[in-house]
Amino acid sequence: MNTGNNLEKCLIAPSILSADFSVMGDEVKKITDAGADMIHCDVMDGVFVPNITFGMKMVSDIRKHTSLPLDVHLMIVEPEKYVRRFVEAGADYVTFHMEACGDAVSVLNEIKASGAKCGAVISPDTSVSVLKNCIALCDMVLLMSVYPGFGGQHFIEKSVDRLRELRRLRDESGSKALIEIDGGIHAGNCAAVREAGAQVLVAGSAVFGEKDYRAAIERLRA
Ligand code: DX5
Ligand code: ZN
Repeated sequence: MNTGNNLEKCLIAPSILSADFSVMGDEVKKITDAGADMIHCDVMDGVFVPNITFGMKMVSDIRKHTSLPLDVHLMIVEPEKYVRRFVEAGADYVTFHMEACGDAVSVLNEIKASGAKCGAVISPDTSVSVLKNCIALCDMVLLMSVYPGFGGQHFIEKSVDRLRELRRLRDESGSKALIEIDGGIHAGNCAAVREAGAQVLVAGSAVFGEKDYRAAIERLRA
């Protein structure tokens, strides 16, 4: 069994969904200074998920406050209509849900052609195997460990087995995609998800719900 000592290095991507939107610039600066590796931006349209957050304007405003990569997670229908504009707004990674589009390969190619890194996301009830035909094109694959829509939910335990399956698919296909996990990540389960193959950990409440962002990030990385 893997111990904490031989875990792969992981990247921490705080989700600004749990930040104070009224002072977003300061929040982004604080999280940058606290040692985050990238900034996870959750875009929700009220159609694909029952919640609404923000669009391109927020991404371009955040861009002015950090040089960290912006990891834009689109929870929207018809992502193909918007990916280019998110890249123009300053996104470094754009990911979209497999459940929200018919032709993932063309959306991935559109993101790449726009100049960003691309990735596909699967919700908890979607089979890992739907990624088979596109994982080779992906720079990132995101496995949701909660139902998309809200921060602060409980981690769905079966996600650990799903991560292993995804990691196997990625390694067997020769894909270099980063494996990202999103939802309910905290200091108590981050070793388990890393051991199962996660390389990027998204954390909203486990970072922004703490007073000391640096300590919170270090706990996740430890
Ligand atoms: C949920 C979002 C997540 C969420 C994570 O739809 O995609 O990024 O903000 O928040 P926590 O870490 O609080 O589960
Ligand atoms: Zn997210």
